[in-house]
Amino acid sequence: MNTKNQFSRRSFIGTAVAAGATLAAGGSSTVAAEHPRSQSTGGPGSFPKDFWWGSATAAYQVEGAAAEDGRGPSIWDTFSHTPGKTDGGDTGDVACDQYHRYAEDAKLMADLGVKHYRFSISWSRILPEGRGTVNEKGVDYYRRLVDALRQHGITPHATLFHWDLPQALQDRYAGWQSREVAGDFGDYAAAVAKRLGDRIKHWMTINETSSFAIGGYGVGKAGNKAPGIAVATEKARWQIVHNALLAHGAACQAIRAASPGRCSVATAEDYSSFVPLTETPENIAAARRAFVRDNRNGAILMPILTGQYDAGWLEDHRASAPDIADGDLKLIHQPLDGLGFNCYTGAYVRAADNPKGYETLPMFDGYPKGNMPWLNILPEAIYWGIRLVGEAANRKNLPIFISENGCADGALPSADELVRDTDRIMYYRAYLRQVQRAAAEGYPVIGYFSWSLLDNFEWACGYSKRFGLVRVNFKTQKRTPKLSYHWYQEVIRQNRVV
Ligand code: BG6
Repeated sequence: MNTKNQFSRRSFIGTAVAAGATLAAGGSSTVAAEHPRSQSTGGPGSFPKDFWWGSATAAYQVEGAAAEDGRGPSIWDTFSHTPGKTDGGDTGDVACDQYHRYAEDAKLMADLGVKHYRFSISWSRILPEGRGTVNEKGVDYYRRLVDALRQHGITPHATLFHWDLPQALQDRYAGWQSREVAGDFGDYAAAVAKRLGDRIKHWMTINETSSFAIGGYGVGKAGNKAPGIAVATEKARWQIVHNALLAHGAACQAIRAASPGRCSVATAEDYSSFVPLTETPENIAAARRAFVRDNRNGAILMPILTGQYDAGWLEDHRASAPDIADGDLKLIHQPLDGLGFNCYTGAYVRAADNPKGYETLPMFDGYPKGNMPWLNILPEAIYWGIRLVGEAANRKNLPIFISENGCADGALPSADELVRDTDRIMYYRAYLRQVQRAAAEGYPVIGYFSWSLLDNFEWACGYSKRFGLVRVNFKTQKRTPKLSYHWYQEVIRQNRVV
């Protein structure tokens, strides 16, 4: 399936929660003091000392073992098994088989030199019905994974939701279309934090709200991500997003209440970044205006970070803004210990003599891309995304880590299976220089997770698109580090872009 003409999540720039959630405050609530401003040390071009070098994956994209040890189906099992939904009918049934090969993958990470691994936990492995009885065998898998990481001195960073909602909750109350989901997500977060909180201290609640809450639902047509449902109105989609924000809030409270020790709670959003066409005061001001009013920022990031939908966004969405019940914004606006920024692309912006005071510039068909139709290469987006967010939320010291950054490669393996992915090296080098710039200027960027460690199940693209530093031969499961793996290894070793 060619994703080119489908809805792309990146192209849309432009009552109390149901009972049952473990929302009690207190316990081991641990909002850390804000990280001090990063300092670039070790000379020009280097990253801060103790910078988190990492790599990332997500459960449904790498684990496989879809029906093993009591895991229940998720909406991605249903979606990928529905004819016509993914390229070649590919599914995540086996994926990279990390469920069985986690020890080998931990060793690959250790050899790479990363000290941080971001992975996600499969909700339906822990709670096959989405709620109710915990499947302890599912929990045990994550204990094994985390122990293997820790043997190599790798710190685990767990995301609780990377798009794989238990199918049982989809069937029970239409999943994210119901506010009930927030309570169940809170309960799930509590169950996980209680059992794995001795080993995992770094949590992210949700990965990219807009990707599943907008991408999974088309207005009048099927969405191109699970559950792939059509809704009648834009407002219905924004209500789904709002339910996801409530779930984020419920999970933040639940993790803090259930965790046996100190922990840090963050989220990972692919918020939009705007690059001033020229770095003049007028265009920088334009980037600030565009930043807060944008869909993913004004209606997702701002409520999370400030407790308010952006006023400009609300003005633009009078007919489609979600209904907000009393207490919702308070629940959504939980203290965060850090913010994960998934950055792939962005938009150019400049000042304009119009009511909004800015215009975004078009990205034409021939604009350089990272081998995905939506992946316009715009390295400065990562710098401006780090810089603008603290200002927009009035949290200038909020620690930011790049929770994902990467591209698909166009390179084919040769007989030796080595992928000579110079395109990915070009991409990473350009973006990392901009991360380093942000750190050197004192913005609080504390880490970087490349997306992805492994080639994996690339959602609707199946196995046709490869984002890995390591090639996976999906017939044999053989892992072969690509040229970019060796390049990133050297970056980490020298703590500078090479
Ligand atoms: C990220 C997702 O946004 O993009 C990943 O978190 C995904 O799960 C990556 O693999 C690649 O893009 P896309 O369009 O396939 O989601």
